[in-house]
Amino acid sequence: MIYGGILAGGIGSRMGNVPLPKQFLDLDGKPILVHTVEKFLLTSEFDKIYIATPQKWISHTKDTLRKHNIDDARVEVVQGGSDRNETIMSIIRAAEAEHGITDEDVIVTHDAVRPFLTRRIIKENIDNVLEYGAVDTVITATDTIITSEDGDSIQSIPVRSEMYQGQTPQSFNINLLRNSYNELSDDDKKIMTDACKILVVGNKQVKLVMGELYNIKITTPYDLKVANSIIKGGMMSD
Ligand code: CTP
Repeated sequence: MIYGGILAGGIGSRMGNVPLPKQFLDLDGKPILVHTVEKFLLTSEFDKIYIATPQKWISHTKDTLRKHNIDDARVEVVQGGSDRNETIMSIIRAAEAEHGITDEDVIVTHDAVRPFLTRRIIKENIDNVLEYGAVDTVITATDTIITSEDGDSIQSIPVRSEMYQGQTPQSFNINLLRNSYNELSDDDKKIMTDACKILVVGNKQVKLVMGELYNIKITTPYDLKVANSIIKGGMMSD
């Protein structure tokens, strides 16, 4: 099975004082989440597409999908987890309960708040996860990256041509991800801010797929303005 996992389990605290978690905010006439789900629906390879939201937003999510005429039988809304990785695990548990998981099953996970992913990015994620077992979507870093542990002075300036910025989708062979996650201690799980890092710390190969500059994550009110400009300027493609 090829699963889609749309991660909408956050509350969007960095978006400031808004009435709804940011994934439900309007972007050019429809909620950000709806833009994202529509991109997934364009991909016929998905057998099932899970959307995970906070428990108290499940019925709102279902209403939103209905209101925007998303009635594809592949789509199901489930409860998210306490952090982003737990949301992924919660989707995997739902998939397991419904279908069982085999060693061939893969999942393409994606931030609900990155509405500009493309069919090309999804397709390359699917092709590569089936071949390599783990995939991250990245763009090359254009700014020089500075590291500083104390936030006060420079520790190092890594070679820019070796630096990338992580986006999503991130795609995984489900058993590979789950086994690697279960090997971590509870403390390590808490600091595992990125799902691909779960594999990297276990010395597993993670294949890179090139994203797009416009595949931005809407985190702050500024990002929402940028997202509106991307749409109005026609700066993205399907
Ligand atoms: N996410 C999730 N489950 C969580 C936390 C985050 O599915 N427990 C999702 C968010 O809904 C979002 C994506 O992960 O689509 C990227 O996370 P981020 O931008 O950090 O979202 P929030 O956690 O909602 O934002 P903030 O950190 O500002 O509160």
